[in-house]
Amino acid sequence: MRAIVIAAHGGPEVLVHAEHPDPVPGDGEVVVDVAASGVNFIDIYHRSGAYPLPLPSPIGSEGAGVVSAVGPGVTDVAVGDTVAWAGVLGSYAEKAVVPAGRLVPVPGDVSAELAAATMLQGMTAHYLTHSTYPVREGDNVLVHAGAGGMGQLLVQLAKLRGARVFATVSSDEKEKLARAAGADEVLRYDDFAEALRGRMHVVYDGVGAATFDGGLQALRPRGLMALYGAASGPVPPVDPQRLNKEGSLFLTRPTLAHYIADRGELLQRASDLFGWIAEGRLRVNVSHRYPMAQAAQAHEDLAARRTTGKLLLLP
Ligand SMILES: NC(=O)c1ccc[n+]([C@@H]2O[C@H](COP(=O)([O-])OP(=O)(O)OC[C@H]3O[C@@H](n4cnc5c(N)ncnc54)[C@H](OP(=O)(O)O)[C@@H]3O)[C@@H](O)[C@H]2O)c1
Repeated sequence: MRAIVIAAHGGPEVLVHAEHPDPVPGDGEVVVDVAASGVNFIDIYHRSGAYPLPLPSPIGSEGAGVVSAVGPGVTDVAVGDTVAWAGVLGSYAEKAVVPAGRLVPVPGDVSAELAAATMLQGMTAHYLTHSTYPVREGDNVLVHAGAGGMGQLLVQLAKLRGARVFATVSSDEKEKLARAAGADEVLRYDDFAEALRGRMHVVYDGVGAATFDGGLQALRPRGLMALYGAASGPVPPVDPQRLNKEGSLFLTRPTLAHYIADRGELLQRASDLFGWIAEGRLRVNVSHRYPMAQAAQAHEDLAARRTTGKLLLLP
């Protein structure tokens, strides 16, 4: 089978697409014939070494496809089932090895490609809006990078919960996408802090260095900053005294793994998302599809702000 393996950390050129032996599932493992793999910022961090991996390493963190083999001890998944996963390395491959406990079933009314596009960012948007800060009817919610993969999902889920949603974007084209996702007001990065000062119940910030300070200013007293990423670079150390001064604010730096570690939670989040998709209440916007061999191009485009919505690799 063909798969992408990195032998060193570095730029997009370390993503080498080559022939490898077909994997054999071990105890509790499943081999899936991959229909599509999602591209995520964490893949860039794994590739660059910002989040170092033991090398050589497979890469890619989410996907979906059809089970082609099951290892000893696997009882609740069978050959032929359509399944999806997030947070399992080795997804940039024709065949992925996934622990059975990390798989979720994909219902018949959701395609494997759409399931691959939904898992990592969808479950992240789910926990941010339902668990980290459960958005309430009438809340003012700020979503940075509102046209991005995460952004379009966060805007939609916050709207589903009855919020008034504000989004930031960098261009007119991205503004249209954030509005199409449901954003009530769309702002640019240079003036959002002043325009929204003291009004937001929660800020969902995956941009990081460029937006963090402005986001604190935009929060109302006792508001919550959910700093979930750093597309523009990491936020420097924060003096807790700032949270006092800006209004007894809450600050959290959450990550998906801690919100799907419990299998019940994993299944609930995935099944909510698939249900909303099937009912037409949630739209996962797959805007970029690349052959797997062009993973380097996908990484360059995502890092350079050239993309909107979800990027997929097709094996
Ligand atoms: N903590 C978690 O559990 C978790 C899970 C999934 C993703 N994330 C994080 O979520 C964030 C968004 O991920 P995504 O895959 O959905 O990406 P994305 O939002 O589709 O792409 C990143 C966007 O960030 C904005 N941005 C602003 N300044 C930037 C800069 N200097 N360089 C690059 N982008 C910049 C750009 O939109 P504009 O051009 O409109 O500014 C860009 O399109 C990432 O930080 C990622 O690590 C975290």
